[in-house]
Amino acid sequence: MDDVTDTVFRQIVQDLASPDLFFTEFVNVDGLMSPGRAKLLKKLKFMPSETRLVAQLWGLKPENFKAVAEQIATGQLAQELGLPKGVNFVGVDLNMGCPAKSEVQNGACAALIKKENRDLAKQIIDATKDGLAGRLPLSIKTRLGFNEVDLTWHDFLLQQKPQMLTVHGRTRKQMSKVPADWELIGQVRHLRDMHGTDTLVVGNGDVISYEHALQLAGKYNLDGIMIGRGIFADPKVFMERSDWQYVGRQQRIALYKKQVQMFNVMWGRGERNIKTLNKFCKVYINGFDGARELRDKLMNASSTTELISLLTAAENRRD
Ligand SMILES: Cc1cc2nc3c(=O)[nH]c(=O)nc-3n(C[C@H](O)[C@H](O)[C@H](O)COP(=O)(O)O)c2cc1C
Repeated sequence: MDDVTDTVFRQIVQDLASPDLFFTEFVNVDGLMSPGRAKLLKKLKFMPSETRLVAQLWGLKPENFKAVAEQIATGQLAQELGLPKGVNFVGVDLNMGCPAKSEVQNGACAALIKKENRDLAKQIIDATKDGLAGRLPLSIKTRLGFNEVDLTWHDFLLQQKPQMLTVHGRTRKQMSKVPADWELIGQVRHLRDMHGTDTLVVGNGDVISYEHALQLAGKYNLDGIMIGRGIFADPKVFMERSDWQYVGRQQRIALYKKQVQMFNVMWGRGERNIKTLNKFCKVYINGFDGARELRDKLMNASSTTELISLLTAAENRRD
C-alpha cells in the first residue's frame, strides 16, 4: 500500500504475525527508467530478512515493464538496493486496479480494465513476461471492472496465464464506497476452473481478521486472501487468533517507538516525510486511557527525535 507498506512497517508486521506474501508499494516503471530512478527506488527497498516480498509495478510503457522485470528477475535491482547476492524479490505484480485519478487519466492502472485499453494491457503483460523469462512468477492485481462489472476482463487476464490473480471486489467507479462483492470474486475463481489453468485466485476487500479470511476462502474456494486496511485496525491481523485487543498501553507505545526508531535509521536522511508516520500513530496509540491526548501530541511532532522523546516520556509515565 502506497506510503504504508515500506520496508520498516513490513518488518514490524513480519515480526508480529507474518502473511505468506508481502507486496511493496506500487512503483512506476516509467519513472524507474527515467532520471528520477533514485527517488523511486526507495519504494522497493527491502531487507534480507524479507524473504516473501513481491514487487508491485505500474506504468504505461511496455518496454519499461520489460526492462524493470528483467532487472528484478536477474537480481540486478536487488543488488542496486544494496542487498547481498542471492537475496531477491519472490515475484512481480502488475497493478491494474488503482483507481486514483492521476493514474487513471493517463490510461494506467485501473484504466487498463477498459475494453479499449486491452491491447495495451496485453502488451504490458507480454513485456513483463519477456523480462521475467520464467525466472520469477507473474501476478496481477485488479478490480471487478471499470464503471461496470466486466468479467470479460478476468477472462482475458486468465488467458494470459499469470501465476496469480488478485481480485479486489469492487469496480473502479465504486472506489471504496460499497462493500466488496465476494460472490463476484467467487465467479472469477469459477472462470479459472473453466479455463483449466493453474492461476491462483486471491480475493481482496474488507477482510478484517484471519478467521474472516479463512471463512471467505472456504466459501468461495479461493487460493488466498489479501488484507490491506485490516492492518490499520489490527497489526496482528495475520495471526490465527489475534490478541491485539489485549495488547496494553506500554506494549503499544513500545511498538510505535520501535517503528519510529527503525524509520529514523532507514529514512533519516529525509527520504520519506515523517508525516507518513501519522497513519501508524493511529494504529498503535489507541485503545487505552489518554491515547487521544498522546496521539494529538505525536501527530504534531516535527522530527523523529521529537517523536522518540515524546514516546519515551509516555513510556516512563506508567499510569
Ligand atoms: C493508503 C492505501 C494505499 C494503497 N496502495 C495500494 C498500492 O500501492 N497497490 C495496490 O495494489 N493497492 C493499494 N491499495 C489498495 C489495497 O491494496 C486494497 O486493494 C484495498 O484497500 C481493498 O482491500 P482492503 O479492504 O483489505 O484494504 C491501497 C489502499 C490504501 C488504503
